[in-house]
Formats: sequence, structure tokens, C-alpha cells
Amino acid sequence: MTPLITTDALTKDFTLRGGVLRAPQVLRAVDRVTLTIDAGESLVLVGESGSGKTTLGRMLVGLTEPTSGSYRFDGRDLARLAPAARRETRAQAQMVFQDASAAFNPRRTIAASLEVPLRYNRRLSDAEAHREAAHLLDRVGLSPAVYLNRYPHELSGGQRQRVGLARALASKPRFIVADEPVSALDVSVRAQALRLMRELQREDGLALLFITHDLGVARVMADRVMVMYLGALVEEGPVTDVLTRPAHPYTRSLLAATPVPDPTRPPPRQRLVGDIPSPLDVPRGCRFHTRCPFAHEQLTEAERSLCHNEAPPVVTFPSGQGAACHYAARVRTAN
Ligand SMILES: Nc1ncnc2c1ncn2[C@@H]1O[C@H](COP(=O)(O)OP(=O)(O)OP(=O)(O)O)[C@@H](O)[C@H]1O
Ligand SMILES: [Mg+2]
Repeated sequence: MTPLITTDALTKDFTLRGGVLRAPQVLRAVDRVTLTIDAGESLVLVGESGSGKTTLGRMLVGLTEPTSGSYRFDGRDLARLAPAARRETRAQAQMVFQDASAAFNPRRTIAASLEVPLRYNRRLSDAEAHREAAHLLDRVGLSPAVYLNRYPHELSGGQRQRVGLARALASKPRFIVADEPVSALDVSVRAQALRLMRELQREDGLALLFITHDLGVARVMADRVMVMYLGALVEEGPVTDVLTRPAHPYTRSLLAATPVPDPTRPPPRQRLVGDIPSPLDVPRGCRFHTRCPFAHEQLTEAERSLCHNEAPPVVTFPSGQGAACHYAARVRTAN
């Protein structure tokens, strides 16, 4: 099967303006990410705040232009497509925003917001677009009679999130990036929203990239998990492998910070050391070495010098799990 999406060394640099005495600086938000996403698969992308998840997601739907590297959607290199073909391809990749309130025009009713992509991307007539808008609201669990003619500010955060999903579905996309609202939703609303998204993803055979801080979400949402740290992909693999036998110490630490569903299993002692470094000053060698509990506790001085001096290659295991750690095999069996 050809993957729906492939990237090779996809990179995004942001140039930060200088000041009177400061030269402009370059911040590498996403650092040479190589990945594939298959049609219809559900992926969870986790990582701490500032690790580059949103920037990567935006590049994958064509909202942010990469600085370098390549990106193919359905085998086609987006950068080389003519504008019309590029627009058409972009309609197939949609993003549901983290901050749903900023994503809507406050002066447009929900019906009007939903009808725009229906008329432009799917070329429906006004009457067809109106009917389809009602159908979409119904699919995300909101009564069309009640909500079609409301304005965004008249909805709750959870309802706006659902309308955001409906609008993403309006273009009949093949790929959706959902950037999870971190604090906007309460626990029960969040669980419902996750279930709904998973259901729609399965029904429509969509590929879904779900962005979150919470590795626990992967259990319900994902076939596969990807973990980012300071702009780089540090681990990826099938959800059962990554959650039970993480091969990167950073993933182990994230798991240790996630409540364990099995209370008979003691939580692993794998607390992160120190704060996340500045993305303007990524540690050389392994970018995680300054905070790595495995290196601090289980490696000899001589072994650690490899972490300090050389960027680790990706070590791949037979299940498809892979981790960018010099000692991935040892980390994996240490669980
Ligand atoms: N437009 C921009 N200009 C300059 N720097 C940016 C821009 N957008 C993002 N960044 C920087 O790039 C890095 C990655 O940001 P990004 O929003 O992708 O992180 P994230 O993993 O989504 O974080 P969070 O979990 O907090 O949403 C951060 O250091 C951020 O400050
Ligand atoms: Mg983000």
C-alpha cells in the first residue's frame, strides 16, 4: 500500500526578530522529521509544550510552508503542484484547531461557516450546502434545528469544538489533524469528543493525527504513536509496543507521568531531570541527554559520553517500533 503521507527530513525554522543589540535568531521548531501516515490510520502525536507538534501538524495540512525537506500527499509533492491542484489536495487535509473560538468568523452563523467549504471545495449548490450543513451538525451530535443559526459566541467550548470538527469534515477530507484543546474541555466532554472523533475516523476511513500532551489518550485513540522532543521525532511505533515497552527514555518518562490503569503495577521511577532546554539552544549529541533519567541512573560515565557527543540514529525493532536512542534496546528491555 502506498502511504497517504510521506515526509523526508521535514524542517521548519522560524526567524525571530532581533533587537537593538540582538541579532535575529533562528528557532528550529521542527527538525528533520521523516514519517509516513497510511490511509485510514489513527495516530497520536505527543510531546511537551513547545516540542513542535502544532508546527508539524500545520505543515502536514499545508498551512505552514516547510523551510526544507519534502512532503508528499498521495504520492504528489505539494511544492511542485500547480496552484489549482494544490488547492484541491489541500482540501483533502484539514485541521481542527486547538483554540476553536479563534477559528470561526464571529459574524457568521454556524450554517454560514459550514456552507463555505461545501460550496467552494465540494461545489454544492446553496440548497445542497444547507442540507449538508445540517447533516454534518447531526453527525457531530448537535441538533441542526437548535444550532444552525447560532453564532460562535453562543456556543460552549465543547460545542464549538464539535462544530470545528463538522467544518473539517465538510470538505470530505482524507486526513485530519486534530490539535487537542488542553484546558478548554472538562473531562467528560473531552472523553465524548475523543469517542466521537474516533467513530467518525473509522466510519469515513480517515487518517487522523491527534495531537495531545496526554499519552493516556493514545490507548483510546491510536493505532500508532509518535513522540516528539524539542522539534524531533524521538520514538514511534504501534500503540501497544510504545505504551508497554517504550524504547526511548523520554517516552518512559512521559508514561511514568501518566496515571497507570493497573494499580498492581508500581509506577516506574523515571522522572525527568530538570527543565526542557530552550529550542534556541538544543543540546548537542542526543538532544535529550541533559534530562535523561536512564543515562543518569543506568549508564556508566563512558557510555554516557556517547550521548553527549553523538546524535543517536533511529534503532528499529521488528514490530516497526523505532527510537532515536543509542541504548534503545536496553531501554526497551529495562521496562
Ligand atoms: N510563528 C512562530 N514564530 C516563531 N516561533 C514560533 C512560531 N510558532 C511556533 N513557534 C515556536 O516553535 C516551537 C514549537 O511550537 P509549537 O506550537 O509547534 O509547539 P507545540 O508542541 O504545539 O506546543 P503546545 O503543546 O504548547 O501547543 C516553540 O518554541 C514556539 O515558540
Ligand atoms: Mg500546539
